[in-house]
Amino acid sequence: MADTERDPRPDPIEYDGPPDYRVVGRHGVYPETNHDEIARFNFLAQMNRHLSTKIMPGVGEAFDARVEPTFKKKKKRDFESRHEVRKALLEDPMFQWWSALRRATMETRQQAGRWVTLRQAEELNAKVGELTEGDERLVLDPKFKQPRSTEAIDHHCMPGSYHTELVPGDITGPANYDAGIFATTGGMLGRYNDGGGVAVAEWVKKTFGDDFKPKRILDIGAGLGHNVLPIAAAFPDAEVIAVDAGAPMLRYGLARAKSMGIENVTFIQDDVSDLSRFEDESFDWVQSTMFLHETSYKTMPMIFAETQRLLKPGGIVLHVEQPQYADTMPLFEQAMRDWDAFYNNEPFWTKMHEVDLDEWMKKAGFGDNHLIHGGVAAVVDKDVFPDAADDDSEDFGRKAAWHVIGAKKVA
Ligand SMILES: C[S@@+](CC[C@H](N)C(=O)[O-])C[C@H]1O[C@@H](n2cnc3c(N)ncnc32)[C@H](O)[C@@H]1O
Repeated sequence: MADTERDPRPDPIEYDGPPDYRVVGRHGVYPETNHDEIARFNFLAQMNRHLSTKIMPGVGEAFDARVEPTFKKKKKRDFESRHEVRKALLEDPMFQWWSALRRATMETRQQAGRWVTLRQAEELNAKVGELTEGDERLVLDPKFKQPRSTEAIDHHCMPGSYHTELVPGDITGPANYDAGIFATTGGMLGRYNDGGGVAVAEWVKKTFGDDFKPKRILDIGAGLGHNVLPIAAAFPDAEVIAVDAGAPMLRYGLARAKSMGIENVTFIQDDVSDLSRFEDESFDWVQSTMFLHETSYKTMPMIFAETQRLLKPGGIVLHVEQPQYADTMPLFEQAMRDWDAFYNNEPFWTKMHEVDLDEWMKKAGFGDNHLIHGGVAAVVDKDVFPDAADDDSEDFGRKAAWHVIGAKKVA
């Protein structure tokens, strides 16, 4: 008897989850992943997508049906701040469930990635060592003192954060960051997790036209270079300088760049709140991507002042970040976006997102009429990855779409 006669099966449900981990871009120093490790990353990517598309809306429903009415009944007034909303949400089982699962997926993702890199630490460290040894495009400072803002925190639950070296030359931290970001974002940043940088490079070309030919570009808080490499590739005649506090990030970053054939980036270890190593007016473009939320309230004005000092007249500074908490953003959304600050080791997130960045830019010396505002969504290989521009899911702070706030320095 033919199968179809015996047991006609329903049409299979169309899969709408993240792409398989096997599509990641494996550059020359990317960690190896075996079958089970890939399965674990796939589970985590799918779980994250499930949380943001299927569970998260339930938190919104619980807020409307229970949390807000209960608060109003008790206090006889509306919510006055996102902090009040967050505290009220904490009492609700739907929020508790979503929040605990979200934290658990992050912890599991970090442990999964950490194990992938630790089990092959010697090979990875040696590969990166070979590619970077004696290369003048890696400038590390053995006496560098980590700012407290980078040293005191395991950012987004990442063991050892961006700076820890278990042995001299250790790059297992950045290798973990690189290998697991796909799971955290559900693949939204593309094959090389560089969809933000690709979008910024395209946006700059479109916005400033062919006349903008930067000779020197500075990327501050560049990390391992995910988003500065597409900028360097789009402006191959420019000298690109990527500055970060974390030596392992920079070491891995140069090796990764070289293995991807990108040769015009120099990786320098420094604290970007004091870049006195560079002369005044020595850059045409200063860029930061998903960086400001990891800087403290105290250092942010110093960073803004440095970018103003370093720009040549006519040069531009651009900061790419999740949107600010404008008055027009509902308090529920602000409270959900604040989740990272309170439950994902991103303590600076909340304050950074409430400040008036326009005012801060003006205080740093940028003219009122020369501020730049825009928006970009990750540019990815559409055959394989979900397109952030078309994606209507919300992950309150993880969506691959960002605001651009910047300024042009007047001549
Ligand atoms: C979110 S990560 C990197 C994001 C990176 N721009 C990208 O696009 O992939 C933030 C980085 O900022 C660096 N950082 C934070 N504060 C810093 C400071 N004061 N000086 C230099 N680097 C800093 C951290 O070491 C970390 O690598």
